[in-house]
Formats: sequence, C-alpha cells, structure tokens
Amino acid sequence: MTDPWANAAVAARVTVGADLHLELRGPRLRAGLMDALREAVRTGRLAPGTRLPSSRSLAADLGVARNTVADAYAELVAEGWLTARQGSGTRVARRAAPRARPRQAAPAVAASARVRPRRGALHNLHPGVPDLGSFPRGEWLKAARRALTAAPHDAFGYGDPRGRIELRTVLADYLARARGVHAHPDRIVICSGFVHGLMLMAKVLRARRVRDVAVESYGLDVHWNILADAGLRTTALPLDEQGTRTDALGAQGAVLITPAHQFPLGGALPPERRAAAVDWARRAGALILEDDYDGEFRYDRQPVGALQGLDPERVVYFGTASKSLTPGLRLAWMVLPEALAGEVAEAKGPVDWASGALDQLTLAEFVSSGAYDRHVRSMRLRYRRRRDQLVAALAERAPHIEVSGIAAGLHAVLELPPGTERSVVQAAAWQGLALQGLDGFRNPHVQRTRDGLVVGYGTPTDSAWAGALDALCRVLP
Ligand SMILES: Cc1ncc(COP(=O)(O)O)c(C=O)c1O
Repeated sequence: MTDPWANAAVAARVTVGADLHLELRGPRLRAGLMDALREAVRTGRLAPGTRLPSSRSLAADLGVARNTVADAYAELVAEGWLTARQGSGTRVARRAAPRARPRQAAPAVAASARVRPRRGALHNLHPGVPDLGSFPRGEWLKAARRALTAAPHDAFGYGDPRGRIELRTVLADYLARARGVHAHPDRIVICSGFVHGLMLMAKVLRARRVRDVAVESYGLDVHWNILADAGLRTTALPLDEQGTRTDALGAQGAVLITPAHQFPLGGALPPERRAAAVDWARRAGALILEDDYDGEFRYDRQPVGALQGLDPERVVYFGTASKSLTPGLRLAWMVLPEALAGEVAEAKGPVDWASGALDQLTLAEFVSSGAYDRHVRSMRLRYRRRRDQLVAALAERAPHIEVSGIAAGLHAVLELPPGTERSVVQAAAWQGLALQGLDGFRNPHVQRTRDGLVVGYGTPTDSAWAGALDALCRVLP
C-alpha cells in the first residue's frame, strides 16, 4: 500500500491562541511535525510561553493520528523546546526563544545606492532620518492624552480634507513665528508627509495644464519620480558654487527647490537668487514649490526665513514633521496661495482620507503646549554637537576632506578626492558602515563633476554615534 503522505507537503492552519501555519513535509509525519514546530519556535512565530493546542485537536487539524502529535510533543519536551505540566498543557519553553543571530558586517551595497541600509549594517550614516531614539515618547503621550480628552465627537468621524482646524490654527502661528511664513489656517492643507503633498500638488499642476517643472541638479529621485508619474517633465537647473541658478528659469510652470538648505549639497540659496526666483514666478505666472524639510535646524546664525514670505501668492510652502519629530508620523503641511488652497484640498478628496485626526490633534497640542519648541531646541543642540564632532574628527583624522555647505540640518557633504566615492562606499559597506555617495542624488541629466559622501549624522542613536563616527574616519581615503 502506498503511503498517502509520501512526498507530500501537508499544510494546516491551526489555532494556537493566534493562527499558526504548520507545514509538514515528507513521509515521516512525526519528524515533519517536530521540524515544523522547531522552525516556528526558532523564527519566533511561536513565542515563548505560548500554549499549544492539545494533541487531540492538533491531530484533528492536521488529519494525523493523535499519537503522532503526542510523540512529537514528548520528544520536543525532552529536547527542551516545549514544556508540559499537568493542568497547564504544553507550552513553548521560555528558554527556547530564538537566539539573536550574530551580527555580520553588511555585504557590499552598490555605491551610491539610495536604498535603506542592509539589516546587517553595524553603523548607519544614511541621510534623511532623525535620531529615532530621541522621539519624545513621554511628552507625546501626555499631549495625546490631553488631545484625546478634549477631542470633540466630530474628531472621530471623516474630517475636512484640509486637516483638523486645531492643527492648522496652531501651525499658522508657529510657521509665522518660527519660519516667517505668511499663513492662515484656511490656506493650510495637512498631508501625509511631503511626498503626499507633492503628489497632490503635481495633480493640481497637471490639471492646470502645466507640463514642465524645474528641479535642482541634486535632490531625491523619489520626488522627481512623483512629478514624472503625474505626467510632468522635469528639467534640472544648472548649479554653480553659489547654488542653484534660478536665473536660468524659463518656460517651466513651476520649480521645486530647497532654498533654506539645499538637499543634499547643503547650501542656502543667496538672497539675489531667491529674489530672481520670485521675479520669474511673477513674470511667468509660475509657482515656486518650497521644500523646507529641515528649516528648524540651523546652527551658525539666525535661520533664514522661508522664501514663501517674499510672495505668498507665488510660493507653495511645504513643511514636515519627518525631521523635527519622526518620519513615522507621516504628518506634513502645505501653505498655499489663496487661488490654490481649494484645488489642493479637492485633490485630496471629499474628506480627509490621508491623515488620522488623533495624530493631528496630538501634534496641535504638542505644538501649542510648547513641547515642540522644547524638543526642537534640544535636538538642535544635539545635532549641532554631532556636526561639530564630525568636523573636529575630520580635521584631526582626515584633514584633506572638506565639509561643504552651511552648518544646518541632519547631514553634511564630505568632498572626496576625484574617483574615490565608489570605493569608499564599498569599503564602508564591507566594514558594516552604511554610507551614501553624493552621486546617488545627482539628477540623471546633469554631468557628474564631483565625488562626495552625504553623511547623515542625525541618524544614529546617541549611544551609536561615537562608533559610527570612528568607523567613518577609518574608511576615508
Ligand atoms: C529633501 C527632502 N524633502 C522632504 C523630506 C520629507 O519627506 P516626508 O515628509 O515625506 O517624510 C525629506 C526627507 O527625507 C527630504 O530629504
């Protein structure tokens, strides 16, 4: 008689507190079940202490004899994977928790790849992320409690597509005070991160028959792709030692720029180039999309106010909580010219499908209570200290490497000797240090003229920072 289980994989979804998928392979049922259970424990799918189903019900679920399950359980108890006690059934042993894998150096990542660091990286200096260990959990929790307690019933329904009025009101004050933005709550639209705001804006621009949008020669391809996906052509503006040449703006219907702190090169757009951009927008009936992603973090002197202050009817201002708090919140805001506010809100939908009301109310409470200012001030000090330590370490250990750009933000550009970027990024990866080269941020239509690293000194947690800095110094040419 042939064995019906031979060479067959038997899978069953059994209920073990939570659903568990067990796959039995091969003709040896007991061994197959033991392997499947060991694997589930090893990978953490069955947590320590989890109660397993009785041998009778697991046997019924799997369609095998009860003894097969009972024997498998008994052997796994003997091996220490499970425990069995009268009255409390069979459970995953506390000691059987999967051991953390030994850390490995990251395999080489492609030079300049704009990907997240591999899991194995010991140190991460990718730009774009703040110190996630510094998220003010306690203050946020207090603000959330106050916000939830005070929330009107309508906050639990579908909201205004522009976002909660409480948050828009608080932001209008904050942005005027901290960034020199001319803002009115009616002209603010809350969005789910800058990328979402840019998607909305791109949709509106296309509906207005805009075809071309100018961008900077260095930036994030994810942003250029959002514009392209909406059917907009992008042209890269030329760059010189003073920054983006806004005098080269021409027939485009809009320009996307980072005037307070060019991303990633790090310069501030000089006043005459800011003025040239606004003059062009007025002349051409065009729009400036101002990405103020890290305007709160300037260390050398008083922050330059937002470009939007020069002409609120020609500039769309974008701010985000991704750097000042955390990207995980997915909260950002747009301050719009009067003529556009309705169109952008409409592009978002008839109601607010994108941003959760409770997080918006919590952020409103967080800002109005002063907790946001306190957090930004404390992070400013911390990032400033890291930047100073980076500059000092380079002066001592790699004096030929220059840091370009202004003292601001959460990242710095290190200028490398020509032709060395790729090998430095690769060498770093081999040693477990995740780094990104400057070339990964170059617009494909722009010629490569320099080698560099974009070092995200805001990314490591406090305890990891010294090690990351040391690892960086060790891989520099
Ligand atoms: C240049 C630039 N703009 C905007 C953002 C913020 O994006 P979001 O608000 O979608 O997280 C980032 C974040 O990394 C950025 O680097």
